[in-house]
Amino acid sequence: MDFEIINGDIASLETECIVVAVAPEGQLSPSAGAADSASNGYLQEILSAGDISGKNAQTLLLHKVPGLKARRILLLGIGKAEDRNNRSFRKAIIAAMSVIKSTGISQAVFALDDALTNDSDAYRQLRHLVEWSGQELYQYDETKSKKADPLKLEKLSILCAEDDTDLAEQALLDGTAIVNGTSLARDLGNLPPNICTPTYLAEQALELDDEFEALTTTIVDEEEMAELGMHCLLSVGKGSEQPSKLIVMQYNGGPEDDAPHVLVGKGITFDTGGISLKSGDSMDEMKYDMCGSASVFGAMTAICEMALPINVVGIVAAAENMPSGNASKPGDIVTTMSGQTVEILNTDAEGRLVLCDALTYAGRFNPASVIDIATLTGACIVALGHQASGLLSNDDQLAQSLLQAGEQSADRAWQLPLWDEFQEQLDSNFADMQNIGGRPGGTITAACFLSRFTKEYRWAHLDIAGVAWNSGKSKGATGRCVPLLTQYLLNQSATEE
Ligand code: BES
Ligand code: MN
Ligand code: ZN
Repeated sequence: MDFEIINGDIASLETECIVVAVAPEGQLSPSAGAADSASNGYLQEILSAGDISGKNAQTLLLHKVPGLKARRILLLGIGKAEDRNNRSFRKAIIAAMSVIKSTGISQAVFALDDALTNDSDAYRQLRHLVEWSGQELYQYDETKSKKADPLKLEKLSILCAEDDTDLAEQALLDGTAIVNGTSLARDLGNLPPNICTPTYLAEQALELDDEFEALTTTIVDEEEMAELGMHCLLSVGKGSEQPSKLIVMQYNGGPEDDAPHVLVGKGITFDTGGISLKSGDSMDEMKYDMCGSASVFGAMTAICEMALPINVVGIVAAAENMPSGNASKPGDIVTTMSGQTVEILNTDAEGRLVLCDALTYAGRFNPASVIDIATLTGACIVALGHQASGLLSNDDQLAQSLLQAGEQSADRAWQLPLWDEFQEQLDSNFADMQNIGGRPGGTITAACFLSRFTKEYRWAHLDIAGVAWNSGKSKGATGRCVPLLTQYLLNQSATEE
């Protein structure tokens, strides 16, 4: 499926379907107005008859509208001007895409103008149109014997005024890159844990290395990790037959001596809990425990496609957390790459154990900022539900930048406090710290643990436990945080230029 930007007169567009926006009280958007004039008031008549009120996400498909070259016109409700936000905007796009998909047409034109949301400017509205319609076309069939029917839809065009063409082309490029990154993250997340192992993730990274000139990938194996002193990361994979991997993807788009931004992803390809075994219900969903790393893969892909003029390093700490005779036990004490010792009181708090060594490793790059992304705590779901990623940071300015990027990309985060008072919950009698801080403030104490390894640089932590996948009937990875991370990096490249 391809996107394109087109200009021109709506009446003379030869296409299978044009989507135009209508609002309550018979209000037509400029493009709908133009179509209405060409059809001699036919659309207005239908609105007056009350077949569609213009309420958000309503749709009405009309055939052979007089005066128009297009075969169909899809009226799409966008609600009252003052109620339009990113949420209603996305719902409207989903509704339009559902009609487009079910009619099986091969091309359509969006002629929606740029008053679809009060939350963003023309560039971002167009980009979101590309991102969200593109995401509606995502299909997972990797592990089905019968492949999904190929998409009938071949082309989505976006009609815009000639003056806006440059901005629209940029929005299309960026939007497509974000869709592609998000789809990759969803695919990796959805793959079963017997396929998506640490080794598989390492192979994926090498494939990206082949695909993109600006990318250099290094895989650090267990032996090299041991030499580096990453005994905490290694302790997590000890019970598994699958070797752990530290994956390092360096994207060089900026001047050589520019400090890079580093993304660090939790890549637990399956989390049984280890000896602190989880209960059986929904344990299959712990295949999603690598979604932090999937978002790193996704964001790296997006910035490669956008060819951003900055330097970025993506690090993935990949391991499988299994119980066995070799597995770590509660009470074990391990030495991290930083030299600090950790008493492992619960082997199910494994994410922080792999991340801490990856974060120490990140310090080698003298980073401009480091962001780790992890499905780290069930407590984050209790605190923030399934809408917001949890954000904790040792730098208020960085936290603000990420909150803003979340708003801009409609992939929002919410900040939690990282006060010193919480650190005491990690005191251990036998090591420098223990790996759990008890039930109160579980997301915060997990971040406190990580903060002990990130003192040398500006760092933020995104806990995506509540947002990385959907459960139930629509079970599947969301690709969340790819839009946020990509927006953050876009903003960085804009300020550096
Ligand atoms: N991967 C889980 C967190 C998780 C659980 C994410 C459920 C999404 C849904 C993590 O490794 C974990 O098990 N965390 C423990 C920490 C506890 C032992 C301190 C948790 O949240 O229960
Ligand atoms: Mn766990
Ligand atoms: Zn986990």
